[in-house]
Amino acid sequence: MDRLEVFGANKLKGQIRISGSKNASLPILASTILSDKKIYLSNLPNVKDIETMIKLLKSIGLTFKLSKKRKSILIEKNKKIKTYAPYNLVKTMRAGILVLGPMLARFGKAKVSLPGGCSIGTRPVDIHLKSLAKLGVKYKIVDGYVHAFVKKKLKGTKIKFPKISVGATENLIIACSMAEGTSILTNCAIEPEIKDLVNFINAMGGKIRWIGKRTVRIYGVNKFNDVYYKVMSDRIEAGTYLILGAMSEGVLKIQGINPKIIKTEIDILKKIGAKIILSKDQIIISGSKKIKGINIKTAPYPGFPSDLQAQLMVLLCKAEKYSVIQEKIFENRFMHVSELNRMGAKIIIKKNKAIINGNTKFRGAELMATDLRASVSLIIAALTAKEKSIISRIYHLDRGYEKIEKKLRKIGAKIRRIS
Ligand code: EPZ
Repeated sequence: MDRLEVFGANKLKGQIRISGSKNASLPILASTILSDKKIYLSNLPNVKDIETMIKLLKSIGLTFKLSKKRKSILIEKNKKIKTYAPYNLVKTMRAGILVLGPMLARFGKAKVSLPGGCSIGTRPVDIHLKSLAKLGVKYKIVDGYVHAFVKKKLKGTKIKFPKISVGATENLIIACSMAEGTSILTNCAIEPEIKDLVNFINAMGGKIRWIGKRTVRIYGVNKFNDVYYKVMSDRIEAGTYLILGAMSEGVLKIQGINPKIIKTEIDILKKIGAKIILSKDQIIISGSKKIKGINIKTAPYPGFPSDLQAQLMVLLCKAEKYSVIQEKIFENRFMHVSELNRMGAKIIIKKNKAIINGNTKFRGAELMATDLRASVSLIIAALTAKEKSIISRIYHLDRGYEKIEKKLRKIGAKIRRIS
């Protein structure tokens, strides 16, 4: 099993280029099941989850031509699709559940493994299933698989999501794109990755319009055209490196990201004391000696994202007074706290609140990653500690951060992978 060895306390400065968005690429890849035409996607991040999604799509019959660096793909015509997504692929990449909507929309049936929980929570898919049922889908769950079918075609209708769900919004937008008639979805998640999915489906010939802040209208279509599409940049990767920049005295230039889609994060980092200069697709950031404590709640976009909660916690450990982070999206997303406390942090958890004492001097330690975003928070903490840290189970990291050691070494970090 690979591990990362990190020596900290180096002055970090220089440029970091942001890769394509994992969380935009996954639903866009799933939605390619809808079309039998040519699809050329570029700017895909070269990370494990994308590899797994491509493996899943190949296993159901899509044919791919991958570029050398695996960052762009050409999907040739796909006619014969097996409407089956096996557990061994869905269990490691929960977004596998997103093939359910397109399979039902185009073929009227699907057998898809339930994704199962993960370390941050049970991650149910009840909203996906109940919403698909409103389009005429009948389903039953047998041996951990969703067996679903629809008599003829999905029928467009009005659906109000009972709670904001990124995945359920994506599954239903994809399904309704080929349903008969018009669908109006309300109380949608509106993450930028969902807007990117809508832009992709429209580029392919879909007819989707946002008619309200969280309301989308979809006219079902039954054929698509060839399409070339460039996936958006990864705002969570960008937010991660911005938080690293807010902890470093050196100046970091985060390139290839539109500051508008991470406005909330930028405003919070400015409040904490970071110095930030914005331009069209670049953010220049440097930390300040005095980091102010703040209280934050995670929320659906445009609120502060749950996916940056662990990273922000590390920064707040360095604040001059205590802070509170309330995790409102997932029920168990504080696994990084015990590892940070082993490095000298003083964080107390009360239900879904973490009370973070400031003025922490992190010490290097042997650490264990527990989930994708927690693993990167351990690296950020280790980069400030004088001693050596060894981080194990970094397969979590490889799911969503492209070439992280290379990008960090480029700005002066002493980090290497030991196999
Ligand atoms: C997406 O997960 C992201 N994953 C997550 O990023 C992100 O943390 C999450 O959205 C919230 O922003 C991808 O885009 C691949 P949800 P998703 O449905 O779609 C509950 C990362 O690190 N819920 O918005 O699974 C659910 O349990 C990952 O890149 C139901 O109860 O998130 C959670 O408490 C981690 N029933 C809340 O809603 C459902 O049917 C939000 O989940 C669906 C969700």
